[in-house]
Amino acid sequence: MAISKIGVLGAGTMGAGIAQVSVEAGFTVVLVDVVPAVVEKAAKGLDKAWAKAVDKGKKTAEDVAGFGKLLSTGTDTALLADCDIIIEAIIENIDIKKKVHAQLSEICKPETILATNTSALSITEIAAATSRPDKVVGMHFFNPVPVMKLVEVIPGAETTQDVVDATVDMSKKIGKEPVVAKEVPGFIVNRILVPYINEAGMVFQEGTASAAEIDKAMKLGAGMPMGPLALADLVGIDIVLAICDYFWKEFGDSKYRASLAFRQKVRAGHLGMKTGKGFYDYK
Ligand code: 3HC
Repeated sequence: MAISKIGVLGAGTMGAGIAQVSVEAGFTVVLVDVVPAVVEKAAKGLDKAWAKAVDKGKKTAEDVAGFGKLLSTGTDTALLADCDIIIEAIIENIDIKKKVHAQLSEICKPETILATNTSALSITEIAAATSRPDKVVGMHFFNPVPVMKLVEVIPGAETTQDVVDATVDMSKKIGKEPVVAKEVPGFIVNRILVPYINEAGMVFQEGTASAAEIDKAMKLGAGMPMGPLALADLVGIDIVLAICDYFWKEFGDSKYRASLAFRQKVRAGHLGMKTGKGFYDYK
C-alpha cells in the first residue's frame, strides 16, 4: 500500500497542521474544507508558518517554493478522490463523521485508506458507516501538530494489518512517532490527559486558586510544559468538555463527570484560544 498522495479533509487547526507536516515531508497534499473562509485562513496560516521558518533559518525560500507546488487546496470533496489516504480532521461529532466517511468511501478509489483524526470516538462505528470498514483507521494527532511528535494509530474491529502498517509507515515518514492503541474511549493519551485537565477545572471551580496560580503550580511543581487550564484553552474547552461527556456516557462512571467551570465557559462561548477567550484572554 504505497502512499504518495495525502488528502486532508477539514482545514481547522488540526487539519492545517497535518497538511503542513505532510507537505514538509515531501508528500503531495490536497487540503479540503467545505467552508471557503476556513481554507483561506489555513492557506494564509501555512504561508505565515513557512515565512517564519525561513526567518529563523529553519527552511529556505526554495523549500517553501517546493511546498507550494506540493500543496493544493479547495472546497470540493471530489478533489480527494484519487488520494492514497484521506485524513479527516473535521468536527468531533460521530454522526457527522459517519456521514462524511460514508460519502468518502463512495467517491474515492477502492484502495484509499480513510483515516479519522478523532480524540476519543469509536473507529469501528465510523468504519461501519462506510463500504470499506477494513480500510478505516484512527490517526490521532496532537496540538500543535508541527511540534507534538506522537500519532496514535487505532485499528477498528475490521481494519486490516496492511492498513495499520501503511498508516504507521506514513506517520513515520511525516516525522511522527506512531503508537498503536486499542480502540477504547480516549485511547491512551486522552484517557489520562483529559481527566487531569478536568480535575484542574474542578480545582478552579472550587476556588482553590486562580487559573494562573493553578497553571503555575503544575508547571513548577510537576514539570508540565504548560498548565492544565492553558492547555484546555489550547485544545478548546468545548473539545475537553465533549470528551469528558463521552467518557461518562461510554464508561458509565461518575469519575468522568465534567467540571462545571468548563460547561459554563462553553455556554458563554468562551472556548479558549480559538474564540479569543477561555481561562485567559487572547485578544
Ligand atoms: N504551532 C506551531 N508551532 C508552534 C506552536 C503552534 N501552535 N506553538 C509553539 N510552536 C513552536 C514554536 O514556534 C517553537 O519552535 P522553534 O523551537 O522552532 O522556535 C517551539 O514550538 C517552542 O515554542 P515556544 O518557545 O513559543 O513555547 P514553549 O517552549 O512553551 O512550547 C508548546 C509551546 C509546544 C505548546 C509547549 O507548551 C507544550 O508542549 N505544551 C503541551 C501541549 C500539549 O500537551 N498538547 C497536546 C494537547 S492534547 C491533544 O491535542 C489531543 C486532543 O485530542 C485533545
